[in-house]
Amino acid sequence: MFEKFTSLPPDPILGLLASYRVDENPNKIDLGVGVYKDESGHTPVLQAVKEAETRLLQSEETKSYIGPAGTPGFNSAMQELALGEGHPALIANRVRSVQTPGGCGALRVLAELVNRARPGARVWVSDPTWANHVPLLGNAGLKIETYPYYDRATSSLRFDEMVETLKNVGEGDLVLLHACCHNPCGADLSREQWKVIVEMAQKQGFTPFIDMAYQGFGDSLSDDAWGLRLMAESVPEMLLAVSCSKNFGLYRERVGMALAIYNDAASADNGQSQLLNVVRGNYSMPPSHGAAIVESILTDAGLRANWEAELTEMRERINSLRTGVVESLAAAGAPGDFSFIQRQKGMFSFLGISAEQVQQLQKEYSIYMVDSSRISIAGLSQGNMEYFCKAVAAVL
Ligand code: LMR
Repeated sequence: MFEKFTSLPPDPILGLLASYRVDENPNKIDLGVGVYKDESGHTPVLQAVKEAETRLLQSEETKSYIGPAGTPGFNSAMQELALGEGHPALIANRVRSVQTPGGCGALRVLAELVNRARPGARVWVSDPTWANHVPLLGNAGLKIETYPYYDRATSSLRFDEMVETLKNVGEGDLVLLHACCHNPCGADLSREQWKVIVEMAQKQGFTPFIDMAYQGFGDSLSDDAWGLRLMAESVPEMLLAVSCSKNFGLYRERVGMALAIYNDAASADNGQSQLLNVVRGNYSMPPSHGAAIVESILTDAGLRANWEAELTEMRERINSLRTGVVESLAAAGAPGDFSFIQRQKGMFSFLGISAEQVQQLQKEYSIYMVDSSRISIAGLSQGNMEYFCKAVAAVL
């Protein structure tokens, strides 16, 4: 049966980790996968998570199934975290969600839900977008189209071209937007630009499909959700995939939420029954542990305050690295203007070097990044900054 298979190349992002792990260079730097690291290069378990986990181990009384939707407590706390307390769509009872295995699980089940309603619907994604959006949405049956988003030559948004392309997108199509901290380019829509896209969605009737994987890594928990909250207030239907991997540091526990906003409460009940059926026919139900931790943190004032402080610390460390790398590249004599890195948000920016230069950095300096020159900023530190910047200056 399988003899016709050929071997596929490793995943462009996850594959880097395997090469990095076997590299024996003591100066090696991993700027590949989007995982937060502290100054010592370690990805810590957050203290709030440890505390919630300890409480959970003591209080958990059963390992029985939790069902395809996950727990109501997780869903309502996460709906409020994403949409904000008292959001009009929540008050109108038009919101439904399910707990999912990570943001990937959320993207996939929402794509399958769409494909039930509109088989082969077109979903417009930014050029560039996170590489895994393509298989997650495409393998569910949706047709991928792209809109211009980021200009590598000028390291800035192609907003006018984005709008020009989206003018032709109407009812029955979806437009995938990154809520904040765009992956891979780090360049986000301004509030004015969000307003333009919201108005286009209202007028033209396309369905916004928003991916929020980095809430809290840009400016703050509420600022990072500003655009999606406005969108959710303004359109009859919207989809939202949320990941808890980064902001709760729960990567391997696989925690996320798939949320849909419907025209009215009756459509919401119907839609939710379809979504539950999609989940049941896919992975049956989500894992419990990580989501129980999130629920416990979000519903306990003390744990929540600790978590928010830890999230602020992660965000501030990344922002100071952004400033640091711009200064150090200049000090190392790297040609060009890298100040855009300081203006961008979240875990990633493109360095803006060629794929050959990326390969050279890997081979000669053991510095690992995705071929597109996307760097995961948190992999930098005071300790490796000079080595990194001198190496970049050398390959340039
Ligand atoms: C990334 O883009 O590096 C992260 O979102 C991790 C992943 O699964 O690709």
